[in-house]
Amino acid sequence: MSKRLIIGNWKMNPATLDEAKEIARGTRAAAAKLSHVDVVVCPPFPFLSVVTGKGDMPHFALGAQSASIEEENGSYTGEVSATMLADMGVEHVIVGHSEERARGDDDITVARRVRAVLDAGMKAVLCVGEKERDEGGAYLHTLKEQIVGSLTGIPTSKAKNIILAYEPVWAIGAQDPLASEQIREMGIFVRKTFSDVFSADQALKATLLYGGSVNARNAADIVSIGQVDGLLVGRESLHLTAFVELLKAVDGVR
Ligand code: PGA
Repeated sequence: MSKRLIIGNWKMNPATLDEAKEIARGTRAAAAKLSHVDVVVCPPFPFLSVVTGKGDMPHFALGAQSASIEEENGSYTGEVSATMLADMGVEHVIVGHSEERARGDDDITVARRVRAVLDAGMKAVLCVGEKERDEGGAYLHTLKEQIVGSLTGIPTSKAKNIILAYEPVWAIGAQDPLASEQIREMGIFVRKTFSDVFSADQALKATLLYGGSVNARNAADIVSIGQVDGLLVGRESLHLTAFVELLKAVDGVR
């Protein structure tokens, strides 16, 4: 069995550097004790250096929440390039999160971010998910278009560095996640679409995560029944005790 991957997306949290240090320290320590799980923490840009820590960090890696579409340095006020992130030790970058899409990113912009991240030698955590559902199943068509659009112009040779994160938008920041049985079905759909864009082999090998209202109580079921390779966790990744419990729960899934 390959290792599971749990990515914590801190979003625009916590409020202070001291809190960031504390959550990072606790998460790194917990990760070091895991056997079957790797942990990635994605803090806001100014906290990247405190999350990194010093020296060896078993089962722990640094992530970021976005990267500029611009690959070359230049006059882009407010932007952070993928190359800068890679230079800071970032290994994973979340791309196409629904909160960033809601601020204006379309699929083509998302695809450019994916490309910049891959070109800088990091893994792109590509978030996809439907905004709402309808009885007739039209949302599947929309989701397919989103996945295909977000991969525009990405060469097949780079597909191995894409991690897929299926996050139904209505389940993000909500009370409950999507039911695990449905996560399994949607996972098959997402992989099939990835296979149509690249190849069946790439799709089988791809790491697939689920995100949306994951917590310490539901994480193990989502991974085992939902048959995903890991989780993208928002709120719960900021509550150290609960997050450590979540990590242990998934570490115990066989
Ligand atoms: P949540 O967020 O875990 O707080 O629902 C998930 C996400 O936005 O990736």
